[in-house]
Amino acid sequence: MSPSVLVTGAAGQIGTELVRVLRKKYGTEGVTATDKVVRPGSGPGTIVPLDVTDRASVERAFREHAIDTVYHLAAVLSALGEENPDLAWDVNMKGLKNVLDSSAATGVRRLFWPSSIGVFGPDAPKMLAPQDAPLNPTTMYGVTKVAGELLCRYYSLKHDLDVRSLRYPGLISSEAKPGGGTTDYAVEIFYSALKSRAYTCFLRQDTALPMMYMPDALRATVQLMEADRSSVKLHGGYNLSAMSFTPAELSSEIQKRIPGFSVAYAPDQRQKIADSWPMSIDDSAARRDWGWKPEYDLPSMAADMLARLGSRLQTQKDV
Ligand SMILES: NC(=O)c1ccc[n+]([C@@H]2O[C@H](COP(=O)([O-])OP(=O)(O)OC[C@H]3O[C@@H](n4cnc5c(N)ncnc54)[C@H](O)[C@@H]3O)[C@@H](O)[C@H]2O)c1
Repeated sequence: MSPSVLVTGAAGQIGTELVRVLRKKYGTEGVTATDKVVRPGSGPGTIVPLDVTDRASVERAFREHAIDTVYHLAAVLSALGEENPDLAWDVNMKGLKNVLDSSAATGVRRLFWPSSIGVFGPDAPKMLAPQDAPLNPTTMYGVTKVAGELLCRYYSLKHDLDVRSLRYPGLISSEAKPGGGTTDYAVEIFYSALKSRAYTCFLRQDTALPMMYMPDALRATVQLMEADRSSVKLHGGYNLSAMSFTPAELSSEIQKRIPGFSVAYAPDQRQKIADSWPMSIDDSAARRDWGWKPEYDLPSMAADMLARLGSRLQTQKDV
């Protein structure tokens, strides 16, 4: 029997594409997409208003749609969270606790909640940060992700809730634009390359960070959620990795396909956040436990992004 799914934060960068994938698998009726902000004409189709900081509304939505599987994506991301730490705490912590409590109260079976490479701080190994590296983040976003991982583990023990989680790296997508993260440059740069042949990057050219193309992130999410329960050993957050690159390496990959594209560098406050994160991630636990394997590397991701965005730019004005 198909699960009855609810997605929070469905109008965001991940939600827009994940809802389409889930609706293809389980049918439009089987997937209730929700978000606090419902922007007409954007997102993955029908979206129901739901503010995750309102506990009563969350529980009501779960009951109303007889939900048994939740993808809880609503959050405030790293760069936005540093500008507004109170909002980040409120949405990320209160929102997660409301979703966990409502899940336990209404009999939700399985919950997906994304963690992030933001859980790591400057004391984690820079290269191939292991699954069990120290988690001492220096951003409010990272604090909420570490506390969130602990909370998810607690609810999976105390309420037998099947919580599954991935520490996503920076995600690159050709559909929805990113919403206030430190790795957003890796999406912006493609729009600028195609539109104006020039880009000013807010990170230094040698800032290596772990990254992933959205099709891989969607596949990892569905694969983890469909994995046999016995193979999912971690309920806090699996390290997940595909590629690592610097702005200079991404620029030169784009320049191979768009000669004349020029990039300048003007690091801002996001540089400090990037400097506190690892350059690459060891995801051997995900590979071992449920068979994770990425498909896209830097050249294949850049080629696909340029092809998809390029053809959309030709048909639409506002991309
Ligand atoms: N995109 C990435 O690179 C990345 C990397 C690591 C982890 N993640 C995690 O994945 C999840 C989704 O990220 P995203 O990139 O889609 O983010 P996004 O910012 O694009 O989307 C988040 C969505 O949450 C919604 N939202 C905000 N406050 C809300 C509230 N109170 N109630 C309901 N909805 C609310 C926003 O309207 C937005 O549509 C987050 O938990 C994020 O931390 C993302």
